[in-house]
Amino acid sequence: MYRSHNCGELNASHINTEVTLAGWVQKSRDKGFMNWVDLRDRYGITQLIFDESRSDKTVFEAAKTLGREFVIQVKGTVIEREDKNKNKNMITGDVEILVTELTILNAALTPPFTIEDETDGGEDIRMKYRYLDIRRNPVKNSLLFRHKVAMEVRKYLSDLDFCEVETPYLIKSTPEGARDFVVPSRMNEGQFYALPQSPQTFKQLLMVGGMDKYFQIVKCFRDEDLRADRQPEFTQIDCEMAFVEQEDILNVFEGLTRHLLKEIKGVEVDKFPRITYDYAMKTYGNDKPDIRFGMEFGELNEFAQHKEFPVFNAAELVVGIAVPGAGNYTRKEIDGLIDWVKRPQVGASGMVYAKCNDDGTYKSSVDKFYDQEDLTNWAKVTGAKPGDMIFVLSGPANKTRAQLSALRMELATRLGLRKPEEFAPLWVVDFPLLELDEETGRYHAMHHPFTSPKPEDMQLLETEPGKVRANAYDMVLNGNEIGGGSIRIHDKATQQLMFKYLGFTEEEAKAQFGFLMDAFQFGAPPHGGLAFGLDRLVAILGGQETIRDFIAFPKNNSGRDVMIDAPAAIDALQLKELHIKIDAK
Ligand code: AMO
Repeated sequence: MYRSHNCGELNASHINTEVTLAGWVQKSRDKGFMNWVDLRDRYGITQLIFDESRSDKTVFEAAKTLGREFVIQVKGTVIEREDKNKNKNMITGDVEILVTELTILNAALTPPFTIEDETDGGEDIRMKYRYLDIRRNPVKNSLLFRHKVAMEVRKYLSDLDFCEVETPYLIKSTPEGARDFVVPSRMNEGQFYALPQSPQTFKQLLMVGGMDKYFQIVKCFRDEDLRADRQPEFTQIDCEMAFVEQEDILNVFEGLTRHLLKEIKGVEVDKFPRITYDYAMKTYGNDKPDIRFGMEFGELNEFAQHKEFPVFNAAELVVGIAVPGAGNYTRKEIDGLIDWVKRPQVGASGMVYAKCNDDGTYKSSVDKFYDQEDLTNWAKVTGAKPGDMIFVLSGPANKTRAQLSALRMELATRLGLRKPEEFAPLWVVDFPLLELDEETGRYHAMHHPFTSPKPEDMQLLETEPGKVRANAYDMVLNGNEIGGGSIRIHDKATQQLMFKYLGFTEEEAKAQFGFLMDAFQFGAPPHGGLAFGLDRLVAILGGQETIRDFIAFPKNNSGRDVMIDAPAAIDALQLKELHIKIDAK
């Protein structure tokens, strides 16, 4: 038996018990005649004591050789700590182990950074030695937290009769809008598998197979540019149901999310608001709005155009937000914000502001063009109150909305309005079916090509494809898209039509998705579903937005695993077997 107890459980009730513990040396303090060692494992820290007068001489001497992160096993007696040494902040803080036997199971090099909650190690070094980083509480706790969320998901969905089914990883491309990672086939020269961007087509085939309610906690792979909330391999809670309408799906997964918020965070949330994509874009400039705070957009064309201010007159959209309590911003702060919106990442050409004085008057940067009555209207439309500041942007509608959305989020962060322990979930529904790619001038599916158009919008497909709405929805939590899905097309003719509108020739559609359209001819039930991003969900529930911290072995921003050094070149023989020639450059 390696251990009778773990390092996080002994307390005063164990005094005088003989115990065996194993773990890592967190630190040791040598006082000459007395040696204290903090022994750590996943569960906590227990203090060991080696005493010249009470311990065996060889054990006492051996304790002096212990370095940080040595792996040891000790036998000893639980004793009460002297009162002055008791630590109320630790479960094990009332006791220590008077060690009688010490076995060094493995020596350790000095770790390249301290294994403490606040470490001295930078991101790069911690990634390289991720297994050491995992010994630190913040990372360890994030992984335990992730496990807890995943368990609750499995429990909740299984109780509702969802069945977890594994789908293959070596497949053919499933378009989710990113590039595929591909795997060459040794046995089929010149041919490649694609790693799934999601199990989309397989879960639909499971519905044709009669599985009715499916879920899977599953790895997905997307070769896309990385951000704080994106990894090239990430995990979805992927779900699909047959014989359902959008309403049924929203209800089930709202239920799941509500359950998680309650079980994991102890937070009770009312029915989730539902807003349309159009409303989200107009009100927040964004299809994943953070609604923990207001600052909703006020469109000002009516009250800002046809005066003498040429910038606003020339703009497609003039739109503003009222920032609570920002009326006292100094000139310097305002100039700083103007510079901020002019940065290339945001791209505004300038910004107008109007200060709402406490006495109900206004002072704006465009007083020359707008009188108090105009500004009163601006305040009404943006919901500004005395003491607030109205910031106004103008230009092409979509771009201006995106810029103001960036400013809204930045100001909310600066004002501390994005509170990590507050949760504001919502559904965004009625997404457009198609999205125009401005570079190619072609439409592509906004969600994916299997999403069904709203029947009442079908007649617009030929004439105004951009106006067709889809039976598609996203779940948004605190300004992050944590899940998305749709009701699917389930008949061959509509699916064929959709591929046609997306610019596939009949042959291309058949080659890529013939199997799905074939399946639709053998009694495909109406079906739909969604997928949550597990990493994102866990990170947000954990009060953070960087998913890397909740993934055991994440990739860095260049998609590299710096610990195992992947991706890497492979040897010539392997390349030959795979029929791959690489030009020597
Ligand atoms: P979608 O592409 O919207 O839908 O993905 C679902 C959810 O997965 C998460 N996600 C990611 N998380 C981390 N890193 C990434 N690179 C990444 N990409 C996506 C997001 C997103 O909401 N098959 C459809 C679902 C369906 O229609 O049922 C799909 O994959 O949280």
